[in-house]
Amino acid sequence: MTSPVGIEALREQVARAFSQQFGGAPTLWVRSPGRVNLIGEHTDYNDGFVLPIAIERQVTLAARPRDGVRVRVYSATLSARDEFDPHDLPHAQGWRDYARGVAWALREAGYPPPAVDIALASDVPLGAGLSSSAALEVGLGWTLTQVAGQSIDRARLAQLMQRAENGWVGVATGIMDQFIAALGQADHALLVDTRDLSYEAVPMPPGVSIVIADTNVKRGLVDSEYGARRRETAEAAHLMGAQSLRDVSAAEFDARAAALPDLLRRRAHHVVTENDRVLRTVAALEAGDLATVGEMMNESHRSLRDDYQVSHPNLDMLVEMARRVPGVYGARMTGGGFGGATVSLVANAAVPDFEGEVSRAYADATGQPPPIYVTRATDGVNALA
Ligand code: GLA
Repeated sequence: MTSPVGIEALREQVARAFSQQFGGAPTLWVRSPGRVNLIGEHTDYNDGFVLPIAIERQVTLAARPRDGVRVRVYSATLSARDEFDPHDLPHAQGWRDYARGVAWALREAGYPPPAVDIALASDVPLGAGLSSSAALEVGLGWTLTQVAGQSIDRARLAQLMQRAENGWVGVATGIMDQFIAALGQADHALLVDTRDLSYEAVPMPPGVSIVIADTNVKRGLVDSEYGARRRETAEAAHLMGAQSLRDVSAAEFDARAAALPDLLRRRAHHVVTENDRVLRTVAALEAGDLATVGEMMNESHRSLRDDYQVSHPNLDMLVEMARRVPGVYGARMTGGGFGGATVSLVANAAVPDFEGEVSRAYADATGQPPPIYVTRATDGVNALA
């Protein structure tokens, strides 16, 4: 069975699943998006800057309060159900543990989850680095608080959903993914300062598309290598006498980097220069200078590949193929790395060429075309009418 794609198809699927699983109709509909990061990679756990957008791929949820205390959740995408008492929570496997982590984080923060039936479906591709799990967490968190009649600030929701992932599921990610799922704005990228969670919506210029291409390489090594990068960058900051790499400017880095062992110097160099690139990208977007935006993206990829060493040969190949298409301003890997997807900034008129040429070249090289998603920036989590 092929899975439905797009908000209307998801909605039909979820409505059917809800009535089959729980009977009758839901009282609340919620949409929670996946994300792609334009630039600012592996900076969020270093107090740095990120520039993600929420994408036109999402988790759709339908809910209705019920009697008692139990939460029942059915995933129509996985044909799997979970049921738990949010006040007495054992761990579970896979997506169920994420659902329980959301209930746990809300409960601990004084937002006790209500008794509720929830059906959901997702068209965020799994394992492509487009934050299917943050979309699920933020969607569930928003749904539970809405059904309970609790008002929660979106940034607070993002923090709690990051806590669900860090403190319950046990994956030590930064806050970017949950933040953009909660606070995304249509047709804007979000410049987020992950130190104090201040943010600024940056209009996406007309005439260009965001094009995501998936290597088909499911992200490997993520947990161990991600943890290693966290430790390496924390140590590099410490050796330079800084609280975090965010506090080290490019000039200070040049003055102090000689004190670092080679590996830590390269890791820190990526983070320090990437923070700078994010701010230059925002300035270039505001000035309509797409050539500079593209240069920053290309340079970000080089830095992630050579200094941070989180790329993958298929990501490098896909980025090269994208850049060969006239009308592509820039291309880079996006997300944690070691597989997953690339993001390219493409003149609208060049999108069909991109789809044709990159698909052909990548299929010739690997035997399989890359799934390609052309997207605009969408809003963060919200109730649907
Ligand atoms: C993953 C994490 C994010 C961020 C990126 C790398 O997506 O969930 O917090 O660290 O990797 O930029």
